[in-house]
Amino acid sequence: MRLFVAIALPAGAAGELDSAVAPLRLAWPELRWTGRDAWHLTLAFLGEVDEGLTGKLGGRLERAAARHARLSLSLGGAGAFPTAGRTGVQGDRRGLTRLAQSVAAGATRAGVPPAQEGRRYQPHLTLARCRAPADVRTLVATLADFAGTGWTAGEIYLIRSRLQQQPRYETLGAWPLLAPASSQPA
Ligand code: 2AM
Repeated sequence: MRLFVAIALPAGAAGELDSAVAPLRLAWPELRWTGRDAWHLTLAFLGEVDEGLTGKLGGRLERAAARHARLSLSLGGAGAFPTAGRTGVQGDRRGLTRLAQSVAAGATRAGVPPAQEGRRYQPHLTLARCRAPADVRTLVATLADFAGTGWTAGEIYLIRSRLQQQPRYETLGAWPLLAPASSQPA
């Protein structure tokens, strides 16, 4: 199973971004745009995982999530990797990075080391990928001022990705981040 761990996007944040991106989809048809329904913030990409390891992996992810407080996040800014355009993530980026590190460490202990282990974690949301090298500087500049409404991320998700023309995602598990003491049941 091809698996990854991610934070979900609330409908409001996805809707705002979708409105900002809609004209760009039309202007840049040569890019492979990701669909709004598939948007997420990847914490760790695990690649192909033996089905027998998912129970142990879930336990490790639960423990990792429980060690981190909920995160105040928003989408904003834009950038590009060599093969993908992205929007940035603002807010508690340090907390998000620490969470991603814990998730990666937990997955490694479950026998599922993330594909990108050792690489610096860069919080982002992938908007489009390039089929061929493309100069996306004007696209990035257009999105640079985008600033979405913030939200509080309260869970992490283990997601299965089935590769098709547009990948299909199936949530296999969800685990809560640590709630503030005042909101925990007595
Ligand atoms: P991305 O958003 O950074 O592109 C599900 O496929 C998620 O896993 C994608 O959102 C993608 O993250 C990430 N992913 C897919 N293939 C990957 C790879 N080979 N290395 C790292 N991350 C990958």
